Amino acid sequence: MRLLILGGNGFLGRAIATYACAAGHDVTCAARGLSGPIAPGAGFVFVDRDDADGHEPLTHYKFDTVVDVSRHPGQVRRAVAALKQRSGHWIFVSTVSVYSDNRTPGQRADTAPLQEPTAPQIELGTEENYGAAKVACEQIVGEGALICRAGLLVGPEDPTGRFSYWPARLARGGEVLAPGTPEDAVQFIDVRDLAQWIVLAAQDRLTGIYDGIGPTYHRGEILAECASALGSSCTFTWVDRAFLERHKVRRWAGPRSLPLWLPLPDFAGFATRDTTPARDAGLRVRSVSETARDTLGWLRASNGPVAGLTMDEELELLAAWHARWRASGS
Ligand SMILES: NC(=O)c1ccc[n+]([C@@H]2O[C@H](COP(=O)([O-])OP(=O)(O)OC[C@H]3O[C@@H](n4cnc5c(N)ncnc54)[C@H](OP(=O)(O)O)[C@@H]3O)[C@@H](O)[C@H]2O)c1
Repeated sequence: MRLLILGGNGFLGRAIATYACAAGHDVTCAARGLSGPIAPGAGFVFVDRDDADGHEPLTHYKFDTVVDVSRHPGQVRRAVAALKQRSGHWIFVSTVSVYSDNRTPGQRADTAPLQEPTAPQIELGTEENYGAAKVACEQIVGEGALICRAGLLVGPEDPTGRFSYWPARLARGGEVLAPGTPEDAVQFIDVRDLAQWIVLAAQDRLTGIYDGIGPTYHRGEILAECASALGSSCTFTWVDRAFLERHKVRRWAGPRSLPLWLPLPDFAGFATRDTTPARDAGLRVRSVSETARDTLGWLRASNGPVAGLTMDEELELLAAWHARWRASGS
């Protein structure tokens, strides 16, 4: 298979290139070369997709499958115009952030309501319009393609540091500040599992719309499993939303956050997507233990990024939580 990855040097793109090369395919990555290295064995073509004729260098080749990971409607429009008719199969990597309803649990890709797309003149996706811009990208890609709506990507080489916070924190052991309750839902996918499935989907010329994400876990079960996989002894202190918000702990990701925490009930549906269709189409996921061990190994070997509470912030919050209960006499 001659496979073109539009953006093959980012977190997911590089993983797709790695698996495709290992499966013996002829892989070309097209990017500016700013986001990271190209997987060994893959070819590279310089393109600037923000230029009106930026995809022109790729029109000299013929590809069986094109994978596009862009978040910018302008880039997707230009790629579709230049390459889609000449290519056998099109895969667009979208996101579960396209959905408009984050509250209702158990939704499926084929029936869940979407956000309104960005207006046709909007070229660039931003942090603010991310989901709406991806809806616009999906509509530009149109029928006859595979739309893979990825969930939270985790694992080695994650540039965001968000899932990585947990293996790094759990490996230190001791009393761990944990958000919400042990029963809260958490859902993600190891980037290597999604990449492997996308290569399989390319081989099978799969079309349609799927959520590319792993099963729903309970947060308590995940943290305990990761701690055990890392040989670490932890106790968990679960703190509620009101406390976290009062102490300005951020949700989801970034500095002073408890990563992967989303407040309930607002996000009760976000981490409970029904992935039966993707599983039926061949998506397989490795154990959380393996993801945690490999992520920690990579962090230690490469000094990779970790984002969340600092040690001091966590200690201060634990002290404030315990003081609060002492003050109320419980
Ligand atoms: N990370 C997550 O948790 C998560 C969750 C859900 C969905 N997703 C989706 O999964 C995908 C992630 O893929 P990724 O990690 O490989 O992507 P990424 O980090 O967003 O990388 C974007 C790619 O596009 C290239 N690119 C950007 N601007 C370009 C330009 N003007 N011309 C040419 N190339 C350009 C970049 O390479 P250069 O900069 O070198 O040009 C890079 O290879 C995205 O579609 C994202 O929306 C991610």
